[in-house]
Amino acid sequence: MGQPQQPEGTDDEGAAPTPPPLRIGMVGYAFMGAAHSQGWRTVGHVFDLPRRPVMTAICGRDAAAVRAAADRHGWETAETDWRALVARDDIDLVDICTPGDSHAEIALAALAAGKHVLCEKPLANTVEEAEAMSAAADAAYARGQLAMVGFNYRRVPATALARRMITEGRLGTLRHVRVTYLQDWLTDPQFPLTWRLRKEHAGSGALGDLGAHIVDLAQYLAGEPLAGVSALTETFVRHRPLPGGPSSGLTAVSADGTGEVTVDDAAVFTGRFASGALASFEATRYATGRKNALRLELNGERGSLAFDLERLNELWFHDATEPDTHSGFRRILVTEPDHPYLAAWWPPGHGLGYEHTFAHQARDLVHAVAEGRRPEPSFADGLQVQRVLAAVEESAEKNSVYTPVAA
Ligand SMILES: NC(=O)c1ccc[n+]([C@@H]2O[C@H](COP(=O)([O-])OP(=O)(O)OC[C@H]3O[C@@H](n4cnc5c(N)ncnc54)[C@H](O)[C@@H]3O)[C@@H](O)[C@H]2O)c1
Repeated sequence: MGQPQQPEGTDDEGAAPTPPPLRIGMVGYAFMGAAHSQGWRTVGHVFDLPRRPVMTAICGRDAAAVRAAADRHGWETAETDWRALVARDDIDLVDICTPGDSHAEIALAALAAGKHVLCEKPLANTVEEAEAMSAAADAAYARGQLAMVGFNYRRVPATALARRMITEGRLGTLRHVRVTYLQDWLTDPQFPLTWRLRKEHAGSGALGDLGAHIVDLAQYLAGEPLAGVSALTETFVRHRPLPGGPSSGLTAVSADGTGEVTVDDAAVFTGRFASGALASFEATRYATGRKNALRLELNGERGSLAFDLERLNELWFHDATEPDTHSGFRRILVTEPDHPYLAAWWPPGHGLGYEHTFAHQARDLVHAVAEGRRPEPSFADGLQVQRVLAAVEESAEKNSVYTPVAA
């Protein structure tokens, strides 16, 4: 009070204008809540942005825990009911970092309340929910609101570079897309029955968790949707100790008693693209020794690309147009300034990590909001992935019968 008011969007006299704020409200404060917080906290300090993200409010159900999370991660205020968060008129964008059973309800309410939405993957637990979300996102776009799904592995510089090289024709006609996503945190049969192991909370198991990522990535890189799939799924450990309290990410404690695992532990499937390219996928939480091994290889007429998330600064490229005498896979260290996202970061060779994908995701979304441009992956993209997951489940129920993906 008493100070002359600055016109909105300007700094001190002579200084560059301050971009208008983009006020974020985030629901969920555990694994993805921490990762998204890191992204929102960092993005404006690294990238030049047309809107300035403000970490306005974080939401969880436990008042003390969410207050502690707000302080730890740098959020201005805390809410204990997502409905109250969505109703606040000082929030422009709702970021959903909760399990899949609440994605549809929160996203639909946020879009109805005039907010932009970022929703973690998988978009929903069922195709029906995803259809409603995609339709609501279309209607909201007509009102100037945007919606995006958090398939953050598109935002690893090496996978973004792979997409660029494929678009430039460096692989030519694509023949094979081979993707696996291997983890091992569930191999202990005493690991408790957290929400990830119950269908009513997670929709499916390794399929919706890891499989959703690799289906999205494969389709993004191939530049086309899968036409159909043949699948096997398995639940190796069917009963587990009940959880002894709230879990966070991939850690949990157990209590007395056991309960039934109602999702898959692993999914293996093949797929066909309309172009004729063949794809294979494996998603498992039982690959002993593999921690977060999202691996892909694409083979085209003119060359191949290979990537492993456990070595995420590297992209391997074989140029099949070179003479056999000296061709072969070579390592591209994806840290050059003209590689995707890299100009804003460190000198060449000073690599990035997992967390940076969330800053890149935030960057791309902020630009899309400022430009009124639909961000990718859209809710329609999330719905299409959901349809692939549903086709995988249907095929697995029929002992691998080839099942078309609904258009
Ligand atoms: N993009 C990725 O790489 C990635 C990685 C892990 C998880 N995910 C996705 O992120 C989402 C969350 O997973 P996570 O690992 O962070 O789970 P988590 O168990 O670590 O955290 C879930 C959070 O949601 C909160 N929550 C649950 N129901 C709520 C409700 N009704 N209202 C308010 N808060 C609620 C919990 O209190 C907790 O804070 C899932 O959709 C998951 O598939 C994405």
